[in-house]
This record gives sequence, C-alpha cells and structure tokens, in this order.
Amino acid sequence: MSVTAVKAIRASFFDFSATAQEAEAIADCARYIEDGLLIIEAGRVVSLQPWKEGCGNADVIDLRGKLIVPGFVDTHIHYPQTEMIGAFGEQLLEWLNQYTFPVESQYHCPQHAAQMSAFFLHQLLSNGTTTALVFGTVHPQSVDALFGAAEALNMRLIAGKVMMDRNAPDYLTETPETSYQQTRELIERWHNRGRLSYALTPRFAPTSSPALLEKVQQLRTAFPDTWLHTHLSENPQEIAWVKSLFPEQEGYLDVYHHYQLTGRRSVFAHCVHLEDKEWDCLHDTQSSIAFCPTSNLFLGSGLFNLQRCWQKGVKMGIGTDVGAGTTFNLLQTLGEAYKVCQLQQYKLSACEAFYHATLGGAHALDLDNAIGNFNPGKEADFVVLDPAVSPLQQLRISNSKDIWEKLFVLMTLGDDRNIAQTWVNGQPVWQREEKERAA
Ligand code: GUN
Ligand code: ZN
Repeated sequence: MSVTAVKAIRASFFDFSATAQEAEAIADCARYIEDGLLIIEAGRVVSLQPWKEGCGNADVIDLRGKLIVPGFVDTHIHYPQTEMIGAFGEQLLEWLNQYTFPVESQYHCPQHAAQMSAFFLHQLLSNGTTTALVFGTVHPQSVDALFGAAEALNMRLIAGKVMMDRNAPDYLTETPETSYQQTRELIERWHNRGRLSYALTPRFAPTSSPALLEKVQQLRTAFPDTWLHTHLSENPQEIAWVKSLFPEQEGYLDVYHHYQLTGRRSVFAHCVHLEDKEWDCLHDTQSSIAFCPTSNLFLGSGLFNLQRCWQKGVKMGIGTDVGAGTTFNLLQTLGEAYKVCQLQQYKLSACEAFYHATLGGAHALDLDNAIGNFNPGKEADFVVLDPAVSPLQQLRISNSKDIWEKLFVLMTLGDDRNIAQTWVNGQPVWQREEKERAA
C-alpha cells in the first residue's frame, strides 16, 4: 500500500472530539460510532462518518466487530529499562542504585542500543501505543539509536538523552559542559525531523547540580520549542533529599521553576506528594503531569491524587514508566489507575480513562493539534481493538449493556491480546498473529 493512497476502514470507532477542562465535561466530547467509515489519505484523517450503504467501494477494509480508538499516548517511559522491568524489592532510591544504573551503563554500546530500541518500539506498537515521551540514558548514542528506529517507522516520538552530573556512579555522570554540548548536537540532529521531537531530560533534581540546571536552562532558551521531561515528587526520601541538596529553594518543584524549566511543554512524572503551592505552580505555568499508576504501586511510592489534579486544573496524561512500571500496556495501566483512584474514593470512569490515554495524553504533551482523535487533518495513528479475546472477556462483554461498560471491561480485563492492529501515519505497522493471541 502506498503512503499517499486513500484508505477506507469500516469498524466501530470511539474518540473525543475536543479537550476538556473538567472531568464532568469529558463525556460531552465523547464520540461513539457503532458502524463507521474512516477515510485516510497521505497519513492523515480525511473524515470519520457513520456508515451509509453505497458510501464505500469494494476497497473498503472491513473491520466490523473491531473497535478502533486513537493510538495510545504514553507520557513517561524509559526505553533502557525494558530489560530490567519487574526488579524485586526496593523503593525508588535503592532501586535506582541496585538495578537501574547498572543496566543503563550498557547503552554506551551503539549495537546494544539499536537492538533494544527495536525491541522497545515493537513493545509499544504491539500494545497499541503510537506516541511516547521517552527517557534514553546519559549516552547520546542511546538516543541516536532510538530516534533512528522510530524514524524508520514514521512514529511521532519525543525523547532525550539523560543529563546528570552527580549522585550517580561515575560511569553514568558527565560534566555540565559535556551534557550541554551533546544535548545541543542531538537537538540539532533530531528535533523537528519528520515526526520526531527532542525533550531536555535532566534525570531529576538529586542528580543535577545547579551548574547542570543552568545548562538545561540555556538550552531551553536557545531551543524554546523543545520539551522538558523529568521526575518530580515521587517518593518521601527523594523529596527530603532534594530539600537538603537545594536548601535555598522553597521546595522540590521550585528547584526546576527557579531554572525556568516549568512551562507548557514541561512534563513532570509522578507528582505523588505535591504541596498545595506546587499544584498552583504547575497550573500557573501550564506544566503537565505524567500519572504512572503501575510504577507508583510497584515502587510503593504512593497514590496520585487525580481529583486534586482536576481541581487544580493541571494537564495530565498516563505514563507506564517502564521499567518501574510493570507493563507497556495502557489498558492494564488504566485498570491500575482505577484502583489507585478507588483507594481515594474517586471513581475513574472508562470514559475519563480512555480520554487520558488518548486525547488527554496528547494535550499533556502539547500534541493535541497533531494526534489524539479522528478529527479531519489529524495524523492517522490508531489502534484496532478486539473487544473480547478470551472466554472470560467474551462472557463479560456479551452481558455488557453499552459502550461504557465494554470500555470498562477492556480496561479491567484487557491486555496486549486485545490489540489486533496498530496503525501509524496511515499505515498498518503491527498486526497480531492468531497464534500470538492463543499463546
Ligand atoms: N527518578 C529518577 N530516575 C528515575 C527512574 O529511572 N525511574 C523512576 N520511576 N523515578 C526516577
Ligand atoms: Zn521515570
């Protein structure tokens, strides 16, 4: 199939036509078309309409029985941690020292980085994720490998080289000057190349000296349309450590804010233990949060307060945070988000959950003009979901009364078996084999 050819797909469709400022408004933007026709051309959506007899020709791709939703958006993930997912026993700071840093050291090797990049992107696509905001390692070659592999697939991806100059092993630290120079070269090589974008990626405040943060600030001033991607307020020991390392700042977020690293394209992972004034600062600067439920549970970090996030008007997307997170799959991640909310008496509806995984995530990444729904002109990234792939799912779906209940069953019982196909830029890039589903 050529990239420019018109394609027409018949199936059920679900998306959100506009972003929402409050949880209650999401359902008003939801659009479910039980029997619809999606037309795409040159990698973009031309139209999505209810099916009418005679409106399609013989070339319509018939996916009746499947549910098509916009590609999932993962707002926080570490590709080099793929190989240490599910590491036993430790909370954040010990987990970093014991498992994470040794694994990340391997990415000085371009061959290893290329092999793992291919594996990582395959994991994203086979789980229906078409866009992600990704941490590399401190090695520029880690990011060259990832961007090269994503470019070959024409994926919309944002990534960056980790910047860190203290409180980590010597084999992973650099000087502020080297960090600046290598990051600058990567930006010049990759930022705005096709569908790729660059994120300045200081790991977190404890591994950043004031001199390094000044360099990040200089880069942001020089390249104001780059993203900023880091961690914030994940774990109580981490927060106490930041306060002791930066006593002159009022709190954790102030460290980043002082260096003007907050803002519309700034994405802060976790934000589990924010103080009131930190919520206000995130709102006032239009910064975004990546809520990473499986990671927060796995590392015992705490419960993200989604209700407070809405009250404070802070943009939020869902992150898997692999390898502290325990799955690449956004359906499973939404199921865990539901449980995190249950523990705080907040009911995360399927409607709201799918919003966060699609258009809401795109909004949090400031990409909602390009991706996130089937509005005309949007880039045609989408997932073909098989709503029931096991006897239990078939039983439960067969007694679901409406689309909301079906979506809730998908986020409660669903996993990678439910991802039938993944399309990127109007092209099918991944398709589940029947035998894979049976496995
Ligand atoms: N904080 C600093 N680095 C990391 C990391 O790699 N994973 C998580 N979850 N938190 C971090
Ligand atoms: Zn992380």
